[in-house]
Amino acid sequence: MAGGATPDRAAVLETDRLLLRPWRVAEAGVQREMWSERDPRVPPHRRIDADGRPSIADLEESIRTHATSSIGLLAVERKVSRDVIGYCGLIDSGRGPAGEPELAFELLRRFWGQGYATEAASAVLDWARSSGYRRLWATVWDWNTASRRVLAKVGFVETRRKDVDAVYGTTLIATRRL
Ligand SMILES: CC(C)(COP(=O)(O)OP(=O)(O)OC[C@H]1O[C@@H](n2cnc3c(N)ncnc32)[C@H](O)[C@@H]1OP(=O)(O)O)[C@@H](O)C(=O)NCCC(=O)NCCS
Repeated sequence: MAGGATPDRAAVLETDRLLLRPWRVAEAGVQREMWSERDPRVPPHRRIDADGRPSIADLEESIRTHATSSIGLLAVERKVSRDVIGYCGLIDSGRGPAGEPELAFELLRRFWGQGYATEAASAVLDWARSSGYRRLWATVWDWNTASRRVLAKVGFVETRRKDVDAVYGTTLIATRRL
């Protein structure tokens, strides 16, 4: 953990339009909707399976057991309408060096194209910088134009490193110095 981050306290971040804060169990339905909306090119372990898993109950349990300490993947709530529209935060994917987590974000489709992901990601970057992180990573499918654009808008640069999967295609690896 980089200096300044507080492992025992959940982060709550605020922007002009958004509040980023820990997930509540009652919001498992929003997570399931995101799972159900995922692009068919996303590998199956990130999509609803033939048995309908993860179910809402599975996701409720996951929220309960992953009660956010430090930043994690925070729920993105709109301040005016108070609805949760997706997540944004940092994950320790193990791809980057220790202390250099990955930025991740996803929104329900009906909220795309309004600048929310860029706004949320900027807040997470500010938090990371003020918490002592020096560099972040991000991974993105080469076909994911919207995500690549968000990453570019918040200052990530694509490296020459790529992960090529024979079935699912190419994952690009981007980085951002803070
Ligand atoms: C990626 C995602 C979070 C973006 O959310 P968003 O709130 O719509 O993003 P923003 O509105 O902040 O910015 C999107 C940018 O991409 C651009 N964009 C979107 N689709 C595009 C396309 N098909 N071609 C070119 N540009 C595109 C938008 O024009 C905008 O750029 P601009 O501000 O320069 O016009 C959303 O598409 C999503 O949830 N996708 C599925 C999950 C995902 O891919 N997560 C990231 C995994 S790495």
